[in-house]
Amino acid sequence: MKRSFGKLNDGREASLYTITNGKGMTVCLTDLGATLVKVLVPDKDGKETDVILGYDTAQEYLDNGFYFGAVIGRNGNRIDKARFTIDGKTYQLAVNDNENNLHSGPDGFDSRIWEVKSCAENAVVFALESPDGDEGFPGNMHAEVAYTVLDDNTLELCYTAESDADTVANMTNHVYFNLGGHDSGSILDHELKLATEYYTPVIDEQAIPTGEVASVKGTVMDFSAGRRIGQDIDADFDQLRYTGGYDHNFALSAKAGEMKPMALARCKKTGIVMEGFTDCPGVQFYAGNFITPHTGKGGAKYDKRFGFCLESQYYPNAINQEGFDSPLLKAGQTRRSVTRYRFSAE
Ligand code: BGC
Repeated sequence: MKRSFGKLNDGREASLYTITNGKGMTVCLTDLGATLVKVLVPDKDGKETDVILGYDTAQEYLDNGFYFGAVIGRNGNRIDKARFTIDGKTYQLAVNDNENNLHSGPDGFDSRIWEVKSCAENAVVFALESPDGDEGFPGNMHAEVAYTVLDDNTLELCYTAESDADTVANMTNHVYFNLGGHDSGSILDHELKLATEYYTPVIDEQAIPTGEVASVKGTVMDFSAGRRIGQDIDADFDQLRYTGGYDHNFALSAKAGEMKPMALARCKKTGIVMEGFTDCPGVQFYAGNFITPHTGKGGAKYDKRFGFCLESQYYPNAINQEGFDSPLLKAGQTRRSVTRYRFSAE
């Protein structure tokens, strides 16, 4: 189902698409940023609950720089000094986060109107042509993101990218979850389990990894056995002080490719449980520390830590960090990557 999602201030028209598995899960998406707008799942009493933060109109997505629900491209997370070198040539990106590049720049994939390649009852496929030099990245890239609502209340995101020159390909989705409902306030009482005992610590406040893959054991970064997000989020621990709360890449595997569990989150109040799976090497657990007070869907009040993200990705700054699996995409090759979020209630 397609309807208007409003006109942007620059005159572009955005549309809203609704897909469903006919078994209790409905997802709304806009072609602006191939963005998730609503994810409706049943709670423990069967009540339909919208578990992601968002807005009622497309322009609000551009006005608020939080990347709610958006696809980030060509590269999710940070690139040190906003520079990288491929085949002996150095490419300069926008410096938009301290001295670094975050989420590709001010006109990333999140602010484009994507073409809708196909739309079925339970799936929509968005496509984007990103020209050579786009945001500073080399090569003409064809990118696609397919969203499918599977029968077991799983939302599947399948990314593909191809380029005619060697480039960086590391798309992710920046959706903010609140399993209590998007309008239910803080996520600090959610329980989160991350399917790893390793993370990539950062050097300082600029949040560029040191290059080390460190154990979480014995620290407040340990979510391997499950932990309330709020339990230690303000602990006197350097890594948390640098980033103002959890905002770190957790290392799931050394290399991209194999589908595996990523995370499990649950909210006691609604009983909603979300399990994440991905074939990416890492996942950025971001606790929404930088959300500022403002109004979202249906007049809901959003604020600091009212949503959390689990952004499947190559490790931050991996294009510059030897020892991290590289997001380099060779000319003529296809990068395909799958992330799934499965919902249930207990
Ligand atoms: C980053 C945060 C950033 C947020 C919103 C996350 O992926 O890790 O540091 O504030 O995106 O831009």
